Amino acid sequence: MERTTSRLSFSSRSSSRASEHRNHDLLLPCTEKPTEKRRPRIRAMLGHCIYRKVLIWTVASLVLVAVILFRGKDVSMPDVVQYGKSKLSPSHEAAGDDNSNGDDDGESGHAIVVMVQDDAEEDSEQGVEQDVEQGVEQDVEQDGEQDVEEVEVQEQFEEQVEETPNVEQQELSEEERQKAVFDEQVEKMPWLLFKHLDGYFHGLKALVQKSHHIPEYPNRNREAPFPPPPLNYHVSKPRPYDPYTLPHNARTCYLDRGNTVRPPAIYAYDGVPQHMPDPVLGSYALFGIRDDVCFDRFGRYGPYGLGYTKVYGGLGVGMDTENSGSQAVWAETGQLDYNNVDWGDAQERCSAANKHRFLEPDEETEELPTAPDEREGKKDRIAIVVRCYQGFGWTELAVLNFRAMVTELSLKSGGEYTVHLLLHVRDTNLPIWADDVTAQRLLDASIPAEFHGMVTLWSEPQMRLLYPGHFPAAAQNPSGGDVHGVYRSAHMPLQVFAMQHPEYEHFWNWEMDLRSVGNYYELLHGIGSWADKQPRSLLWERSARYYIPAYHGSWDNFTETVQMDTMHSGEKTILGPVAFAGRKPLRDEQRGQPVLPESCAFGQDPALCGVGEAADLITLNPIFDTKDSGWVFTDDLTGYHEPTSSDPPRRSSIVTVARLSRRLLAAMHEEVWRHHHTMFSEMFPSTMALHHGLKAVYAPHPVYFDRAWQPLGSAVDDAFNSGDDHSTSGRHSVFDMSNEHNHKGTSWYYHSEFAGLLWRRWLGYAQMDGRGQHGSAGTERGGVFEESSSDGSGRMCLRSMLLHPIKYERPSEQS
Ligand SMILES: *[C@@H]1O[C@H](CO)[C@@H](O)[C@H](O)[C@H]1NC(C)=O
Repeated sequence: MERTTSRLSFSSRSSSRASEHRNHDLLLPCTEKPTEKRRPRIRAMLGHCIYRKVLIWTVASLVLVAVILFRGKDVSMPDVVQYGKSKLSPSHEAAGDDNSNGDDDGESGHAIVVMVQDDAEEDSEQGVEQDVEQGVEQDVEQDGEQDVEEVEVQEQFEEQVEETPNVEQQELSEEERQKAVFDEQVEKMPWLLFKHLDGYFHGLKALVQKSHHIPEYPNRNREAPFPPPPLNYHVSKPRPYDPYTLPHNARTCYLDRGNTVRPPAIYAYDGVPQHMPDPVLGSYALFGIRDDVCFDRFGRYGPYGLGYTKVYGGLGVGMDTENSGSQAVWAETGQLDYNNVDWGDAQERCSAANKHRFLEPDEETEELPTAPDEREGKKDRIAIVVRCYQGFGWTELAVLNFRAMVTELSLKSGGEYTVHLLLHVRDTNLPIWADDVTAQRLLDASIPAEFHGMVTLWSEPQMRLLYPGHFPAAAQNPSGGDVHGVYRSAHMPLQVFAMQHPEYEHFWNWEMDLRSVGNYYELLHGIGSWADKQPRSLLWERSARYYIPAYHGSWDNFTETVQMDTMHSGEKTILGPVAFAGRKPLRDEQRGQPVLPESCAFGQDPALCGVGEAADLITLNPIFDTKDSGWVFTDDLTGYHEPTSSDPPRRSSIVTVARLSRRLLAAMHEEVWRHHHTMFSEMFPSTMALHHGLKAVYAPHPVYFDRAWQPLGSAVDDAFNSGDDHSTSGRHSVFDMSNEHNHKGTSWYYHSEFAGLLWRRWLGYAQMDGRGQHGSAGTERGGVFEESSSDGSGRMCLRSMLLHPIKYERPSEQS
């Protein structure tokens, strides 16, 4: 944990540059896509059955896509057509991955802590191109133990490949061909036949109070779709939205050094559009997130520069969209001029002003105090570590999202959270650690000037230097990546970041392609406090299941259901560290330090065990047992002697967005440097929590569906808790490659198509609705004309929700 880094001081430069860059290229010259470098190594590809499959699938996907593109229609819908398309591009972790590249240091907004750099790895495992490949592989690659199934899947696919040309030879009409493709897809994805929901797209003229709100879905009394709701032409004004309850000793933070400009509030409308659906997975009430208000694009982003030009300090986006009544969001503050804001500096001033409220590491040990009297009345600080990479295409809307994060999480909370950008330097030839000018150039080319003060750099060679020694080959390596590479070990730079930042107790691993419709603080604070309150008993079991209110009813009933399912399964429940052949202890354990809190001691009420103990891991998808799950990366584990299907026991959670405690990251760090253990990025944190008895929680945040799954409740439970004992674990898991498609119509999954569609329409851009015959692109809906039309319902307004992945925002960005 020595700082293995040299520190280069950048701060002053970055702030002064902020202003120079305010022309259109402020948003990065760097738009090149990191996608095209990977060249397949033919010999390797043919030499290994995985690669062979990749090849076959790739060819097959290409053929499909080609057919669709050349003969079919537009492909921008959340539908079948896209499914074919996404075979090529996404990867499971595409999201995670892209994101996993960054680094920043923020030690302070002013310094860039540079970690090391080193030889250039092959491009082969870098980001997106890799994602591409892995996407294919993931789709292709079944789990090794399921050879039979694997072969079947492969055969099916080969058949498809052969069939496709036939279809063409027979000169089917366009429509017949589409129908054939659609029928085939429906066979695999029966949910494609469910009715689309309309309620998301009703606008401000359809607002009703929550007490009068009738969700289009889930709804026991009436089946979707519903006809349009009545309109009200007097839309009431949005109001500043304040989810903060700060203590009296909290000091106000400001955007400027002179402490004159307060960070603005976002605005919400009272009520929700009539017939907006309710979430299908998860809940608002659990987290205390309000669901009786909605946010339009101007209330959400107007305060940060949406809807006015750069001349006035805005970003010049959103001006081509419907905007009636939007001025209300600037009534109190005016349109703020963001042209000279230095966000890193603003965060630091904010933390400094509020230093008295937070726990600080001891100067000698660099450890945060643990004794109750030392902690009295003080809070832990939390870092949001956003993973970015050199070559990421920054846009105005990405900048808005970032301003929202810093304002809502850091400045408005009085420094409880601090946002960092962890920038993955992919070009390992750049002497950024040796030369300030090179480093500054890299920054200028990679990150908008206003965020320079939040950046920490890292590179893969640096990880090889920090975690040296022999890492034996993994049991399986479906992605073919390097063990120190970002795709397989996105956690490594996060571990290092945590070791270099003793001031934080928790770290949110965050990604660039996430968007929050509501306030970030309300969301993360709600999730964090709820997770900390969860009891340890049956926590792993609950966390392995999707919570589906239309099926489970209340959370208490869900809890009971889990208890029953677990009892019937006859499986042992998990509490504390697990034993398995070849398990290796950590130093803390060898020193006899207990891992369970006092509330779990003998003689205490088991129902209170862990209540109030900060969660070591909070995930946003269930934490499933990978054994027999069919999840592609199940056997990508390194350094264990017995990598059989169950030994060591493993857990994983898809999408690497998660809150990790310092304790968990320290455990992961030690396992890597000391035992040379590591696992695929999505599996390592939850598995380490399992092995070492740490508190891991899946937080069922609200997730929406694009279609009305029927029968109500049971259809979703059957598909999403389809694994062992009504969970996401084990055989028939929804995370099996052949079942993951169920997530495509949801608002949260690495390859969700609904998330982007909903987001872009909410931003005011027309989108194809995917409702054409046989699943074709359908018609263009939304956008400025529809939202402005006098008989339309107006501008969209959505409840708070987290969306992923958002791969592009403005239609012009679609590649
Ligand atoms: C409780 O959950 C079970 C599912 O296990 C469900 O069948 C039942 O209807 C639920 N009860 C209530 C009152 O919601």
